[in-house]
Amino acid sequence: MQIPLINLKKQYETIKEKADNKIFEVLHSVQYIMGQNVKEFEKEFASYIGVKHAITVGNGTDALIIALKALRIGEQDEVITSPFTFFSTAEAITAVGAVPVFVDVKPDTFNIDTAGIESKITDKTKAIIPVHIFGQPADMDEINTIAKKYNLKVIEDACQAVGAEYKGKKTGTLGDITCFSFFPTKNLGCAGDGGAIVTDNDELATICRALKAHGSGENGQKAYNILNNITEEVVEDKSDDNTVYNPLKYYNYLIGHNSRLDELQAALLRVKLPELDKWNELRREHAYLYDRELKETDLVVPYEDDFVKHVYHMYILQSEKRAEIINYLKENGIATGVYYPVPLHLQKAFLNLGYKEGDMPNAEHLSHRTFAIPMFAELTEEEQKYIIDTIKRFGK
Ligand SMILES: Cc1ncc(COP(=O)(O)O)c(C=O)c1O
Repeated sequence: MQIPLINLKKQYETIKEKADNKIFEVLHSVQYIMGQNVKEFEKEFASYIGVKHAITVGNGTDALIIALKALRIGEQDEVITSPFTFFSTAEAITAVGAVPVFVDVKPDTFNIDTAGIESKITDKTKAIIPVHIFGQPADMDEINTIAKKYNLKVIEDACQAVGAEYKGKKTGTLGDITCFSFFPTKNLGCAGDGGAIVTDNDELATICRALKAHGSGENGQKAYNILNNITEEVVEDKSDDNTVYNPLKYYNYLIGHNSRLDELQAALLRVKLPELDKWNELRREHAYLYDRELKETDLVVPYEDDFVKHVYHMYILQSEKRAEIINYLKENGIATGVYYPVPLHLQKAFLNLGYKEGDMPNAEHLSHRTFAIPMFAELTEEEQKYIIDTIKRFGK
């Protein structure tokens, strides 16, 4: 039997008819950018998360960069985050000219250890980016308490945790602003790159809307006024005929980005969003079956906090013999993945930050032991049984 880490083909088969129809509708409409699907998806996603604003962007990395810029974080600023995450989290901080400051993670949840945050706060610290790693929300109460005490902003990196909950509240509602990725393998993925920023804050939403599209047009002007404390009237763009030259579009107020989710991606996401809760529930069921069966082996199974709803973007095991077990599973047709082999403070790209081995012992320890086994909603009972039985035979 061959089992991939994630089976996108199987997911596509479950939505094929609806997805194909929607995609063809967009193709025939020839409206590919900033059309009705993007508008509707933004409304639907905001309502799903339970926030006022969803602003779609080109990918999760841009979501982080734009959110940081909207919070006016840049040169000379420091942002606290986890070293045990995908590169983008810290890359985005450096992309706006700020400095990532790493705080080690907890060995059980792999999320930022809030006990280590306060000692890293300086008068340059402007924000904390907790990452809800592998689909499990970070300790948001503690993070928000610290943020309030030191007047810091909280940006959730929820790229791996769409639909997850912390004390009954969805990710996306737990900080000042939140970033999501719709990369194809994410729990809610499109057919290419995509992302979104969500917030309840009207001003932040306007600035994000401006920054994602060259700082231009009505949002550009409004954002410019917000950023410069100008209260004068803004000329409303009433044109609904987008084939006609629109002068407002060619007035640029801020240096922004070209980071738009396109209509094809938005149309597909509109088909997938209503399925997300069901898919996340299935992931959770698969995770609990793995837990029950694998905890009697030498492997360490994932830990889930009592007060969270983990959505198992990845199902992560730990082993002293990672290389051997990965090779053994490969020989038996079972795909695995290593997340993450190099913690960010030891990445070559961050050498200039001056970290060395031993600085983040938990992240380093995990980087030598963790590996993911197949996890996706459509995993069959037969496939899961095969994976479990194969793992149980390891070393025998
Ligand atoms: C934790 C985390 N942050 C940020 C990103 C960046 O998202 P994207 O790949 O859509 O740019 C990802 C996804 O790859 C991620 O897993």
